[in-house]
Amino acid sequence: MTIKAKPFIKWVGGKTQLIKNIEKVLPKNFTELDNVTYIEPFIGGGAVLFWILQKYPNITKAVINDINSDLTTAYKTIKETPAELVKYLQSIQDEYLPLDEEKRKEYYLSKRDRFNLKSLDSVENTALFIFLNRTCFNGLYRVNSKGLFNVPFGRYANPKICDEQTILADSKLLQKVEILTGDFEQTLKYTTNNSLFYFDPPYKPISETASFNSYAKEDFDDSEQIRLSNFCKKIDSLGHTLILSNSDVKGANPDDNFFDDLYEQFSIKRVFANRMVNANAKKRGKLAELLITNTKNQKN
Ligand SMILES: C[S@@+](CC[C@H](N)C(=O)[O-])C[C@H]1O[C@@H](n2cnc3c(N)ncnc32)[C@H](O)[C@@H]1O
Repeated sequence: MTIKAKPFIKWVGGKTQLIKNIEKVLPKNFTELDNVTYIEPFIGGGAVLFWILQKYPNITKAVINDINSDLTTAYKTIKETPAELVKYLQSIQDEYLPLDEEKRKEYYLSKRDRFNLKSLDSVENTALFIFLNRTCFNGLYRVNSKGLFNVPFGRYANPKICDEQTILADSKLLQKVEILTGDFEQTLKYTTNNSLFYFDPPYKPISETASFNSYAKEDFDDSEQIRLSNFCKKIDSLGHTLILSNSDVKGANPDDNFFDDLYEQFSIKRVFANRMVNANAKKRGKLAELLITNTKNQKN
């Protein structure tokens, strides 16, 4: 049985739910294109990356990027030293699972403190990054104003801390992936003739409370959304293909044309996907999202 590569962490805004919609807006002749370069400047948990690389072998190279260096270090560690990482995670799992809840919380807090030393080698840093992701509240990644991880303990009964099969499957796929750390605009210099960009930035909040977009110390506010739209217009003018997802602010306020104005030269589709990450269970469920593209393939 072939083990499928898939996200090795839970990540807010994960796009597994949107994959079917994204596939519908890929260029009609996508499978006929040779030597495609796939570029994802806001990689997060990588749900679309792992799916599209397995589904389309004509993608011969991929470039991923994120501003979160703990995250990109994790991708590099899984690509380059998966066996060492698995060994480290297995030892953490063996120490953690036999503990009672009180001892687990102590263990969690001591590992969080060690992670926040910010001076660990990449294997230990990645092992703690994955451990915290699997045992913290709701799989959130949040840092305080000093850039220190401050998510509370998550009380899961039987968390899967060491997922060896997924790490090894991801490592195999990441061999054709270049991993960058920093701002999304740096990805421009990695384009080739056949480049497909998928942008999944932090979403524009649809109301004060509804959306989580503080993945890093710096917020991704409206001026950042505008900077990204200008970058998309540059990508389009250079003849590259792009797909972008974001929140449908019009769903909350019909007079809010923020994205409709910003991306008027592109095709804008409203799609629905389940959103499960919300502390308030009543607020979980179907939310409209936008898929903005310059692809000619609009299967309604
Ligand atoms: C919505 S998440 C991506 C989720 C991803 N598509 C998934 O399936 O898990 C947005 C990501 O953008 C990153 N980010 C925020 N500002 C950025 C910037 N200026 N440049 C690059 N990445 C950024 C965040 O760290 C976060 O991982």
